[in-house]
Order: sequence, then C-alpha cells, then structure tokens
Amino acid sequence: MKKLFINIKELLQVREEPVSFLSGKEMNELPTIQNAYLLIEDGFISDFGSMTNCPEMDAEIIDVTGKMILPTWCDSHTHIVYAGNREGEFVDRINGLSYEEIANRGGGILNSAKKLQETSEEELYEQSKVRLEEIIRLGTGAVEIKSGYGLTVEAELIMLRVIQKLKKNYPVEIKATFLGAHAVPAEFKGNKEGYLDLLIEKLLPIISKENLAEYIDIFCETGYFSVADTERILKAGRLYGLRPKIHVNQFTAIGGVQTGIKYNALSIDHLEVMREEDITGLKGTQTMPVALPSCSYFLSIPYTPARKMIDAGLPLALATDYNPGSTPSGNMNFVVATACIKMKMTPEEAINAATLNAAYAMGLEKELGTISEGKQANLIVTKPINSYHFIPYSFGNHQVDEVYIKGEKYV
Ligand code: NIG
Ligand code: FE
Repeated sequence: MKKLFINIKELLQVREEPVSFLSGKEMNELPTIQNAYLLIEDGFISDFGSMTNCPEMDAEIIDVTGKMILPTWCDSHTHIVYAGNREGEFVDRINGLSYEEIANRGGGILNSAKKLQETSEEELYEQSKVRLEEIIRLGTGAVEIKSGYGLTVEAELIMLRVIQKLKKNYPVEIKATFLGAHAVPAEFKGNKEGYLDLLIEKLLPIISKENLAEYIDIFCETGYFSVADTERILKAGRLYGLRPKIHVNQFTAIGGVQTGIKYNALSIDHLEVMREEDITGLKGTQTMPVALPSCSYFLSIPYTPARKMIDAGLPLALATDYNPGSTPSGNMNFVVATACIKMKMTPEEAINAATLNAAYAMGLEKELGTISEGKQANLIVTKPINSYHFIPYSFGNHQVDEVYIKGEKYV
C-alpha cells in the first residue's frame, strides 16, 4: 500500500544520513523541506522531496495543503501503567505540604502501590490503555513504560504483563522498564537490603525468563535509594542484559549521574539539580540526559539546566514522566512548549530533543525520530500553521491534526 502526501507546507526533521543523536550546537539545526511530498509504502518512509520533483504514481494521494508533517514524538520516560489517581495529594500540596512530606506520611509512590495492589490485572489494563490512547492522539508514536507501582513480586509482574499486553494490542512502539527499586515498600521499612534482595533474587530471574523488560531503572535519590543501592541494582540488571535508564538528581545530586555513566546507562533522567561535575562527566559518553519539564512545572521544582548543558556540548532529550504523583500529564506538545518557555530551548532544539534524541533514549533511533528513508512512517500532520515555531508558541494547546502510526491513520 502506497500513500503519497502532497503539498506539505514544510516537512520537518528530514535526515538523509543516519544520525544517532544530536549534541550541543547541532541541536539547533532542524533540516526541513518546504513545499514537499512524502511517500510511504507498507508503513515505512520510502521517498520524500520537493513538490517540484514529486513522482506521478498509483498511490493514495493525501493533499495536506497548509499543513506540516513531522515525526511523531517519542516519549522515553513514563509510568502510564498505574491505578487510580492522587488528586488528594495535589490539593495537600496546594495547602502547603511538600512532595517529600506527603511521601513521608505514606503517600506518594506507596499510595499508588497500595491502589495498584488492590486492582486486578484486567482493570489495570483498562485504565492504562485509556492513557496510551490519549497520548497517541496527542502525537506520541513511541513510549517507554516503567513498572514501580507494584513493589511486590506479584504486583510488579502484573504491571510488566500489562505493558506487554499494551505492546501486543497497539501499533506504537513500546519499551518496558523494570523499576522495582522505585521506593521501599512499607513491609520492608528499615530493611531496604531485604527488598533489594527480593528484586534481585526473585524478580529479576522471572523478568528475564519471561522477557518482560528491556531496561532497568532505580530512583537514586536521598530518602529512596543510594548510589551503593544503584550500583547493586545496575550490576544485577547487567547480568540479565538489562541496560539502565535511571532516575537521578531530581531533588538532590548524590552521584547517580556518575553511576549511570559507569554502567553505560542509555539515559539518565530528571536532572533538575546538576553540579558542574555532572555536566562534564556526561561529555563524550553514550548516555542521553533526559529532562522532564512538566514534572518541574507540576511540582514547582527547578527545571533541568538545559541551556547550560547544551551550551557545554551535551545532547538532551525531552520526555513527559507521565505518572500519578509528579506529572499527571502525557502531553509531549506541552513538554516541547515548556522546554522553550522555561528552559530557553529554541524550537529547533526542543523538536530535536523530543524526536531524534528521544528515540535514542529508548533505543529506537534506527526506526523512528526522523523523516528518513526506511524509517517507520509514524507521523504528525499539523493543523494549518504559518511556521513550526507556532508549535511551542501555542502552549497549552496543540497543533496535532492527524497522527499516522506505521503508515495507518490513527486519528
Ligand atoms: O519520575 N521520581 C520518582 N518517580 C516518579 C514520581 C513518582 C510518584 O510520585 O508517583 C517521577 O517523578
Ligand atoms: Fe519518572
């Protein structure tokens, strides 16, 4: 099946040569073709160029006059498999409690774990698929989903199985990450080592045998898991071939960045608090730093110092962190806008960070993230807009008119 998009006002993120990710100044370049065509065959991009060279052929013709086309967003960090919501804690924070105080009272991650443990696998799937469909409609064509609200052997496996079921039933690319070390569950209070033993000795072998995850994660943070715990988990994950994608430097910088780099993490995420040595340590590595600006927005915590990092020559990716506690939103359009507004990223940098660099942060840079021959045809067709700068400018709104996944119209 061939589909030929014609009269594309501007085709964004066009890359003839394969590129894994962009760093520093390169991030400010977004190659485009104005007045373009794009041919897709059997779900893959097979040709594109200027309308003046548009081939005549037997194909379904889609005239998108006035509209732009770009690759779908890749959301490389989410927790969209969860049960219930935590709007009560949201109101508690408005009334003056901090995220930390709420967690210390047994709220936060433990609150979501309790809810999840009381929810059946079928119900969890039903709740999660609503969020997945919601984000696809908002232009997300690939998503990473973490476990970490189960915190028992059974409940973590249920979460990972729900992710597998979503993978099977939806056309978007989904990557699964095992985040058993998200918080120490109440039953293991004062016995963190015992909980880590359980994750390593009981859970990891099952996850590996049943092929339930691609990546391993840990919340490396004061009051949660230390650098030594992180070493332990990443070492164990490595034995089972799980590459790290870890939560570090959200509230405090305790050395998690260095541990991530040491274990060749595919990405290190959050980074709201960055020391000089964290920035220099990342230089020249294969580890992608990932910023989560809607988490900063929702919790009123600092934004990842994107300007400083990009100006120092680093790459950067953007993701939502969609979860019930710190970011109850999976809107990548808002993330891109907030990166520009609050982190002073240019529209070019933000779009690169949310497409190609984001694809890299979930191991999909060969399949997605750019308009290139042979890549999957996961595409956003925008509403009619004057320039792509309008995409982040129109914050709180979005310019996604249609979404194509593997060449098929999703919305
Ligand atoms: O990425 N920081 C750790 N985990 C999540 C939030 C967890 C929650 O509050 O439920 C995050 O922000
Ligand atoms: Fe997260």
